[in-house]
Order: sequence, then C-alpha cells, then structure tokens
Amino acid sequence: MLEILTNYYHYFLQGTRTTILISLITVFCGFLLGCVISLLRLSKNRLLNGFARFYITVLRGTPLLVQLYIVYYQLDFIPYPKVSVWGIALERALPCVIALSMNSAAYVAEVIRSGIQAVDVGQSEAARSIGMTGGQTMLHIVMPQAIKNILPAIGNEFVTMIKETSVIQYLGISDLMYNNGIVVTATYNPLPCYYISAVIYLILNLVAGKGVSIFERRLKRSDR
Ligand code: ARG
Repeated sequence: MLEILTNYYHYFLQGTRTTILISLITVFCGFLLGCVISLLRLSKNRLLNGFARFYITVLRGTPLLVQLYIVYYQLDFIPYPKVSVWGIALERALPCVIALSMNSAAYVAEVIRSGIQAVDVGQSEAARSIGMTGGQTMLHIVMPQAIKNILPAIGNEFVTMIKETSVIQYLGISDLMYNNGIVVTATYNPLPCYYISAVIYLILNLVAGKGVSIFERRLKRSDR
C-alpha cells in the first residue's frame, strides 16, 4: 500500500482534483437549472408544471450512467473545437457536466420545492393581509425562510455528487476512479488502490459534510 502511494500518489491527487472540480461545477449548474425546474413545478400553468414533473420523474427514474451515455451520443453532432479544459477533451468534458447537472437539477428542484412548501402558509397569509403582493411575499417573506431549509440540503447534494461523479470514468475522464484504474493496471494490485480511493472519497465527503453542518449551525443561530 505504502509503495503504491509513494509511486503513484500523483495519479490519485490529480484524479481527486478533477473529481472535486467536476462536482463543484455540476452542483453549481445543477442548482441554477434546479431553481428553474422548481419554479416550473410550482407554477399554476398545467403545461409548465407537467413538463417539470416529467423532467423530474425521468431524471430520477433512470440511472445516471444511462443518462451520461445518452447525452454523450445525443450531442455527438456538435463540431467540438479541439480544446481541452484542465486536461480533459471538451467533447467528453461537456457531456459529463451537462448530464451530471441535469441529473442533479432534478433532485435539487425537489429540494427547493419542498423547502418553499415547508414555510407555513400563515406566513404568506399574514404578508398578504398587510397588503404585500404575491411577488413581494415570495421575495421578502417566503424565500428568506425557505433558504434555511434549502441550503443545507444543497450542501448534501454536493456530498452526493462527489460520489456520483465516479461514473464519468466511463467517458475516459481522468477523475479519481479513472486514475485508480490506471494504477490498478500498472501495479496488478487492485485491492490497495481501491482502499486508497475509498479513503480519499471518504475524506472529501467528511470535509464537505463538516462544512455543511457548520453552515447549518450558523443558519440556526441567526434564527434566534
Ligand atoms: N446513483 C443514482 C443513479 O444512478 C443516484 C443519482 C443521485 N443523484 C443526485 N444528484 N442526488 O441514478
């Protein structure tokens, strides 16, 4: 194990960097798209609402890996310029970010919707009774309270995405699992490699989880 670490640590480090980067980008894009989907989902327009429902059902009901391949092959008509971002060829990096973000958005949309709906209706009624408009009520009364329900869950989504990004190895993106595979092939010694990767994922998620809980505590404190 020690020998593998000293000889191949840069593979693990470089893979970890890609994993973190893709997770961050994905959660950010997923959050933006998730906001849009949740607004559609809460809309009174049957068409928009139906679309959002359909989106959420399909993306949560099919495996992420299948979605990744579908996005990859569906977008292969794009004449990608021959550029790489952080050492990843664009034609493979882009489908990954799109597929992961679309998947994450479906989960985030439900988080946002339930966060908004968890705010007591009395709050809106009180706001409306003192003459606020629907928009003002949403912006000044409901949203500030909903954010407290939503943000910690978004943090957890980041923790989830760190693990879920491991599927991008199948498109040849050199994330942690892909580089793990390289080291396995080079050393013919899989078990220690998988242990090392497991520990790295665990550390990433413990750190991210700790960040989320500190943040959550702050939000609670500001409540009092
Ligand atoms: N691994 C599961 C799948 O393949 C779950 C994906 C979870 N995604 C998320 N953004 N929370 O579909």
